[in-house]
Amino acid sequence: MKNSVIADCMVMDLPKIRTRNGDITSINNAVDVDFFVKRVYYLYDVPSMADRGAHAHKLLNQLIVAATGSFCIELFDGVDRVKLTLNRPDQGLLIRPGIWRDINEFSGGGICLVLASHEYDESDYIRDYKNFLAWKSR
Ligand code: TYD
Repeated sequence: MKNSVIADCMVMDLPKIRTRNGDITSINNAVDVDFFVKRVYYLYDVPSMADRGAHAHKLLNQLIVAATGSFCIELFDGVDRVKLTLNRPDQGLLIRPGIWRDINEFSGGGICLVLASHEYDESDYIRDYKNFLAWKSR
């Protein structure tokens, strides 16, 4: 999984059902995402100056959605970087394992919804940037 590169990550359009009283997006296990979702979590009440993320995962696949508001995500695969803004609840960013991410510039009320392929496991994190670079180049 450490061989993933930024090209393996993608912004996906999610299904959107329009009703007269508002829209609905549903994300189905192993249908709208290519992994089984074992955990859902969300970041909220994030100060606009906060820096979130700053880690990579060894095995975890994630789909990240700006459920409300917006935030920026910078991805780094050890060689290439890309900075994206997520601001649509009907789009998701698929992040593969082995990708460093920094998440910041939250708008007021911004909610970062995350669908994850595994339960929380601190041993799946690489939080030290130098360790990440060493792990990628191994
Ligand atoms: P972390 O994943 O580092 O947050 P972010 O990438 O959004 O900045 O997690 C922050 C803290 O929350 C850390 O102590 C681990 C804990 N945590 C859990 O206990 N369970 C979870 O599912 C997640 C995502 C985090």
